[in-house]
Amino acid sequence: MRLCIIGAGYVGLVSGTCFADMGNSVICCDIDNDKIRKLNSGIIPIYEPGLEEMVKRNVKQFRLRFSNNISESIRKSDVIFICVGTPTNKKTNDANLKYVFQVANKIKMNLNKYKIIVTKSTVPVTTGDKIEKILNKNKFKTKFDVVSNPEFLREGEAIRDFVVPDRVVVGGKSKKAIKIMKSLYLPIVKKSSRFFSTTRRGAELVKYASNAFLASKISFINEIFFITNYRTSNIN
Ligand SMILES: NC(=O)c1ccc[n+]([C@@H]2O[C@H](COP(=O)([O-])OP(=O)(O)OC[C@H]3O[C@@H](n4cnc5c(N)ncnc54)[C@H](O)[C@@H]3O)[C@@H](O)[C@H]2O)c1
Repeated sequence: MRLCIIGAGYVGLVSGTCFADMGNSVICCDIDNDKIRKLNSGIIPIYEPGLEEMVKRNVKQFRLRFSNNISESIRKSDVIFICVGTPTNKKTNDANLKYVFQVANKIKMNLNKYKIIVTKSTVPVTTGDKIEKILNKNKFKTKFDVVSNPEFLREGEAIRDFVVPDRVVVGGKSKKAIKIMKSLYLPIVKKSSRFFSTTRRGAELVKYASNAFLASKISFINEIFFITNYRTSNIN
């Protein structure tokens, strides 16, 4: 499959490289020219065990490329992954979706044939609806599907988490898009993980619920540690 990954950061670079390693033709693109220049010179901007070797192997076998020409990369691809950052707004505490919508507008301008647009960035529920609304205004009246495919990888374990995931979640209403996404993930869901298809809003919620559950577990165990340590030090 021909894939375009927009945002060659942590999630984009790891996902793009792993998809290339599974046999797909992948273009990772970014607005950061320096990052693309470094990647094209074999310099990996993040440290992630095993990533450098995997990038080099796939570049050598012409399955992975890096580009700052985002428009051309979109036009040449069948599936477009949005992997840009969604930083928290300091004042309002909500996610800043500026980069996601910038990318949606870029895709709108380059929708030359049917494509699946996949949101991998962590976004609030209903963001997929807003992306769809933007794309509906494409001048070619091209058909497309927007699906949500949240990412659960952990930094430091990113390749392992991608290749051997607990679960792969894809949300969307188009049977065609879900079928294509399932076939894309087939090499890894065959191993041990489970492929869950749900609604687009459901998939967006799964990621937030998963993050909130993880934060609750950490807070809980920190509380237990504090209580037990406090009691023990008071007894002694
Ligand atoms: N880092 C993680 O462990 C992790 C795990 C799961 C989910 N996520 C989510 O994935 C998303 C990406 O996170 P990340 O850590 O990879 O971010 P990152 O900051 O490492 O990478 C984002 C990249 O997007 C690029 N970018 C920004 N605007 C762009 C545009 N208009 N066009 C092209 N490229 C653009 C930036 O230059 C940057 O290289 C976030 O929503 C994050 O919450 C991150």
